Amino acid sequence: MAMAMTVQQALGRARARIETLDAQALLCAALGVERAYLFGHPDHPLTPAQADRYAGWVERCAAGEPLAYILGRRAFYDRDFIVTPDVLIPRPETELLVEQGLAYLRGRPAATVADVGTGSGALAVTLAVHAPAAQVYALDISPAALAVARQNAAQHRAAVTFLEGDLLRPFLERGLRFDLLVANLPYIASGDLPSLAVTRWEPRLALDGGADGLDLVRRLLDQAPAAARPGARLLLEIGADQGAAAQALGAAAFPGARAAVLPDLAGHDRILRLDLP
Ligand SMILES: C[S@@+](CC[C@H](N)C(=O)[O-])C[C@H]1O[C@@H](n2cnc3c(N)ncnc32)[C@H](O)[C@@H]1O
Repeated sequence: MAMAMTVQQALGRARARIETLDAQALLCAALGVERAYLFGHPDHPLTPAQADRYAGWVERCAAGEPLAYILGRRAFYDRDFIVTPDVLIPRPETELLVEQGLAYLRGRPAATVADVGTGSGALAVTLAVHAPAAQVYALDISPAALAVARQNAAQHRAAVTFLEGDLLRPFLERGLRFDLLVANLPYIASGDLPSLAVTRWEPRLALDGGADGLDLVRRLLDQAPAAARPGARLLLEIGADQGAAAQALGAAAFPGARAAVLPDLAGHDRILRLDLP
């Protein structure tokens, strides 16, 4: 009978194909253990089913597929989210929108919140969990993305209302008004997409921002004045080179607002914040 493969042997084989941290993360998931277990139990044998699953995952990782899609999960802010290839993998820089949103909600706990382009629901669900008195709406044009977001709301017991349609249109059609709007809309210029690895795995609908990357931001800012309450805050994620252009669009849509471009941890322009009088 063939000897079962051990943790150490499995990692050794995988490391010949993929990064060490990825090899460890995949093995942890295949075995259902924490990372420390791998170091404490190098001789632990894998069952044939675990070895097969691990080998398949290593192959997918070696082909470039993001770990989040292989494992079906990604950590965002303070919890784990289900992700599938129908949604963008939530990024750490988007957590800035949560911080800025929660700071606003501390002063207005019963606010109405709109998350436009919710994808996995990472923003809407996190805000709803941390601000349980808020009325949180999550909007997306993709029914497949909304199905994933609904699962995430259910697993975190977040009270979120989901609306399908183009940007704020379903919100406006219901006569709703927001106090806080968060949106991480697609903001990559169409011409840049072919050269980017993300397009191979993540949905184009989540990435393509039109000729200058700002088409959706521009359209959202056209719609938003009709749905904004006095004193509202808008937080829009933008690309590193879009600060000045986005700020000009914000000022044109909301002439009386205080507009600021906030940097991410790497110092790049990342959020357009508009505070209405
Ligand atoms: C960059 S992803 C962001 C997902 C999620 N909010 C996050 O931060 O991880 C953009 C999302 O906007 C959605 N989207 C694209 N065009 C849209 C439109 N016209 N109206 C509503 N949602 C749209 C996509 O389906 C996608 O889920």
